[in-house]
Amino acid sequence: MTEQLRPDGTLRHLLTLEGLSRDMIERLLDRAQGFVRPLGARPPVSQSLTGRTVANLFTEPSTRTRVSFELAAKRLGADVVNLEVQLSSRVKGESMLDTVYTLQAMHVDVMVIRDAEAGVPASVAANVAPHVSVLSAGEAHVSHPTQGLLDALTVRQHKKSLEGLSIAIVGDIRHSRVARSDYYAFRTLGCVDLRIVAPPALMPAAEEFAGCSRHTSLKTGLKDADVVMMLRIQRERMGHANLPDADRYFAKYGLTPERLAGARPGAIVMHPQPMNRGIEISSDVADGPQSVIRDQVRNGVAVRMAVLEAVLAAGTGA
Ligand code: CP
Repeated sequence: MTEQLRPDGTLRHLLTLEGLSRDMIERLLDRAQGFVRPLGARPPVSQSLTGRTVANLFTEPSTRTRVSFELAAKRLGADVVNLEVQLSSRVKGESMLDTVYTLQAMHVDVMVIRDAEAGVPASVAANVAPHVSVLSAGEAHVSHPTQGLLDALTVRQHKKSLEGLSIAIVGDIRHSRVARSDYYAFRTLGCVDLRIVAPPALMPAAEEFAGCSRHTSLKTGLKDADVVMMLRIQRERMGHANLPDADRYFAKYGLTPERLAGARPGAIVMHPQPMNRGIEISSDVADGPQSVIRDQVRNGVAVRMAVLEAVLAAGTGA
């Protein structure tokens, strides 16, 4: 695995939450919490990253992650480049590494990479200059570390500590990078009762998600849960033949108010988005009083500010 830490223990790259210490994750979350403001208030700004440049290289679509990395960098005073891959020389056959070397020569300090192919962020991290950092913005089905951090921050805000909580992750676990990063974040922060709930065809391999209980029944998976994390069916990572029928899926696995009533009173409902309303979640729940889905989005900017600051300003805390 590519080394994510510098010899002095500070964060250089963020490719996965696997192996990050609880102390490191908590310091990133504490720093991110300091960047959170109520909706309607002015977001915090600083010049701590003035003169630094962040490039977004996304070869898969994104709304939240790409925009929040851009806002996070700008609010810390950095310059931002959003490479439109479809309009770049990638379409003429230029490799990802040659694209990265080109940006590096233009004094880009951080490469934020989303790619459908597993291993791309680590391969770039292994080849950039020593002063350059690589942040995964979503790697195939493997990893989405800043999503894992923002989800953990959201749980912490509503439930204080993850210790003692029952958390159910529901849906297409097999193809979900969010589920994998949430798994590492939630377990590292002390969640013991972590449940994965999915139809048999969307369960991950047996060797993954060690220590989690597995449920094919939504009812048993949700029973007395404190946190319910709903996931989208990752159609783009399935063969056509494997696509579940949307109506039948909703009938068995869609989160409705009636089903949510089986969780603990005061349970929070999360979803990394984009949502497929009427497939994995009803609008009543997505927009209802137990939903913290928009808090997750707000926290995404704060977490990405904390991560950018950590990799660019070593010694500031994380
Ligand atoms: N949650 C998430 O990664 O959303 P985007 O695909 O819009 O970035």
